[in-house]
Formats: sequence, structure tokens, C-alpha cells
Amino acid sequence: MGILKKMTYEGEYLFDPRLLNNLEWDSVRGWLNPHITCTEPGESWLLVRPLQLADYNKGFLEILTQLTAVGNVSYADFERQYRNMHKSGGYYVTVIEDTRSNKIIGAASLISEFKFIHGCGLRARLEDVVVNNTYRGKQLGKLIVVTVTLLARRLGCYKMTLDCKDHLIPFYKAIGYKLEPGNANSMTMRFDETPKIETPS
Ligand SMILES: CC(C)(COP(=O)(O)OP(=O)(O)OC[C@H]1O[C@@H](n2cnc3c(N)ncnc32)[C@H](O)[C@@H]1OP(=O)(O)O)[C@@H](O)C(=O)NCCC(=O)NCCS
Repeated sequence: MGILKKMTYEGEYLFDPRLLNNLEWDSVRGWLNPHITCTEPGESWLLVRPLQLADYNKGFLEILTQLTAVGNVSYADFERQYRNMHKSGGYYVTVIEDTRSNKIIGAASLISEFKFIHGCGLRARLEDVVVNNTYRGKQLGKLIVVTVTLLARRLGCYKMTLDCKDHLIPFYKAIGYKLEPGNANSMTMRFDETPKIETPS
């Protein structure tokens, strides 16, 4: 039973770990070869689970630096943001741990968004996908992305979207993502680089 023994996940995990059980892995048969799932990831030392506060000391932020700039994040900063996500709901940060070393070796986030459109539907975004460089090429990238994608389906989202660099298009295409004709652009306005507007004296 493992994690299911716990009567509550509050304070233990960012989201209920039972949501990762019995996802529709049969619907993606063929995408992962050999076929692995988040509950049977192929090795006894691989654990796919929701983010925990303790992951601050398990290298979670260090692997994110392989994706982008993380900055100096103290434990207090990390805890505040984790609690913001937990309170807000809709944040499904999922990790892969190597239980031999107690290190986080992969991560992906599903962020869900309430909409008025699509009959007050729920839409999903895929964010912050990364696998530690010494573990790449072993299907762990596919495993973590497919896990959160199937989770989005379980949550009832009507679609899930992502932004990626051109060279990663084949990676996402291999696990079912499509460039929709006329609807595959991504635009950005960066506020962290915008010069401050002078206040007239
Ligand atoms: C992208 C990333 C998560 C893939 O992780 P991974 O564990 O190596 O991926 P997998 O082993 O599941 O690879 C699956 C397939 O994608 C391909 N692939 C993986 N990384 C790729 C890359 N950077 N460029 C092109 N193809 C890639 C693999 O060749 C493999 O193809 P195959 O199944 O035909 O052999 C990993 O390279 C990474 O963390 N990169 C740095 C962060 C990043 O760019 N994240 C994505 C942000 S959108």
C-alpha cells in the first residue's frame, strides 16, 4: 500500500498521490517501449510522486537549473511558494526520485486553469519538464510527461498545451502532442526585462 496507508496527504504532498494510481496507461500503449507506467516505472528504485517540501533537500531546484535560471531560493522561499500552490490548488508538480540516492532526477508540472469557455471547462498547461542529464535517454522524460498528461485527462481537462524549443517538437510529437495548423504560435512579453517606466516629476 505504501503511500496509500496515509489517511491524508495534507502537509505530506503537494497533491493527493492517489491521483497517480490507475491512470489510463492502456491508452498510450506503444508510446513507451518497453511499456512503463508511473506506478511500474521499470526499476524498483524509481519513484514517481507529487512534490514534497522535503524535495528542497533532495535536489529538486538543482535539476530545474538544467532547464532555466532558478536564482537563490532559500528554504523559506521554497516553503512559501509550495504553500501558495497547495492553497491555490491546480498545481500538480510531479517528480521522479531515485530512491537509492534520495535525489530528484526528473520533474514536470501540470497547471490547471478554470475557464468560463468550453462550458466552464478546465484547461491544462505543461510546464517545467526536466530530467537530470545523467539519466536522460532512458524514457524518463516521456514517462513524466505522459504521467502528468494522463493526470490532466483524469482531472477532466479539455486540452493540455505546452511551449517548447523547436528541437523538442519530435520529443512531444512522439507522445501525442500536435502542432495544430494555424494555432501553434507562442508569444511572450517579458516583465523581468522591461525597463522601469519613469514617473513624471
Ligand atoms: C527533454 C528532456 C526532458 C527529455 O528527457 P529524456 O529522459 O532524455 O527523454 P526520453 O529518454 O524519454 O526521450 C524520448 C525521446 O525524445 C528524444 N529526445 C530527448 N531529448 C531530446 C532533445 N533534447 N532533443 C531532441 N530529441 C530529444 C530522444 O531521442 C527519445 O527519442 P526515441 O524515443 O526516438 O529514442 C531532457 O532532455 C531535458 O531535461 N532537457 C533539458 C530541459 C528541457 O529542455 N526541457 C524541456 C522544456 S520544454
